[in-house]
Amino acid sequence: MNKLAIFGGESLISVGWPRWPYAGERERELVDEVLSSDIWGGTGLGPKITELNKKFAEYCDAKYGAAVANGTVSMELCLVAWGIGPGDEVIIPAATFMATAVAVHNVGATVVYVDVDPKTLNIDNAKVADAITNRTKAIIPVHIGGHPCDIDPLIEIAGKHNIKVLEDAAQAHGAIYKGRKVGSLADVASFSFQQSKNLQSGEGGIVVSDNKDLIDLIHYSLGKFGRGIREKYSGHIHYRFGWNACYTEIQAAIALAQLERLEEQTEKRTVNAKKLYSLMENIEGIETFEWQPYCDRHAHHLFLLRFKSENFENVKRAQFLAALNKEGVLASSFYPMALYNQPLYKSETSLSMRKTICPVAEQACREVVFIEQNLLLADSHKIELIAEAVKKIRKNAAQLHTIEIEESEFIGSSVLKKAAKKNS
Ligand SMILES: Cc1ncc(COP(=O)(O)O)c(C=O)c1O
Repeated sequence: MNKLAIFGGESLISVGWPRWPYAGERERELVDEVLSSDIWGGTGLGPKITELNKKFAEYCDAKYGAAVANGTVSMELCLVAWGIGPGDEVIIPAATFMATAVAVHNVGATVVYVDVDPKTLNIDNAKVADAITNRTKAIIPVHIGGHPCDIDPLIEIAGKHNIKVLEDAAQAHGAIYKGRKVGSLADVASFSFQQSKNLQSGEGGIVVSDNKDLIDLIHYSLGKFGRGIREKYSGHIHYRFGWNACYTEIQAAIALAQLERLEEQTEKRTVNAKKLYSLMENIEGIETFEWQPYCDRHAHHLFLLRFKSENFENVKRAQFLAALNKEGVLASSFYPMALYNQPLYKSETSLSMRKTICPVAEQACREVVFIEQNLLLADSHKIELIAEAVKKIRKNAAQLHTIEIEESEFIGSSVLKKAAKKNS
């Protein structure tokens, strides 16, 4: 039992984890209803989308919702609705998924990268204040991994400068900040329904807000070729430049079924994550991220850990991850680099970007690992096995130096890796 699985020992965990994505009878029933109907997509105003817009907005304690094609275009549409474009600046954290930056670049605005808070890896409010200029038009705080940003001070700073705040809540369905649901905290919020997310329909996204005019503009017009709003919607009259950001009825059926399980799953992840934090507490070289006092519920899309190689017998992060995966724990490294260091900025020189050096983001990109969210849906005894696996590896850490592995092996989600493998 003590021989590491990576060296031919028995894996600590041999039975499978809860499936992700998962579809039950309810998904099939609702998808069947769509397939039996004559609206599968096309209009974006069908009954399932309409129901999802209402129910998901309600889930977020927001008034209105507009489902769109994905959680990137959702942010683009918000920026366009606010009239943000070339010459304007939008502040985002340097440690996030590239989509946050892509949305800003796609509207031609300048991405301004700022550092993150080491306690959460969310945007550092003090750094935001320093980055504001008279061109700043919006801030996009990202609730990374599912831990809510400390957004009230940010909204206060933004208010003073007449700057909009858009929550990138792609990873934070169901998270709660000071008793308020993520999605209801700022001017508008954007969620992703891409398949790895805690609520998913393969692809998809949604914008939620209390601002009816903004949601109408996105739902009827900007996301649908610039058609007119409400009674002016149909036909081939285009009032403004718009996107084809249509979500489909089939996707909405899946999302509606998943939404029925979201609360129960979020609670289960919470209980299991809390258990895992305490089991991981005294493992040398492994640091957990504490819930901050303003966090009433973490969505745990990613269960983040800091891997301190220097306290782990100088084992490399990739060696640790290779051993952990072989013991049966699905885990990956965090984003590989602060976004301003991505190679695209060398080739795509027309993209407008401003940065200050972000040492906290850079360090997080070197050190942080995450355990995938569906593991937190397992029975509690399996959660103990995750900690056991880490302890087993810690005990045998010195042996890991012989493993030859590239850091790149453990970048990105297992979804992408599985798809790539099946196609090769
Ligand atoms: C932080 C963040 N923002 C935005 C997105 C974009 O969402 P989508 O893949 O639906 O475009 C994602 C995930 O994919 C994300 O993790």
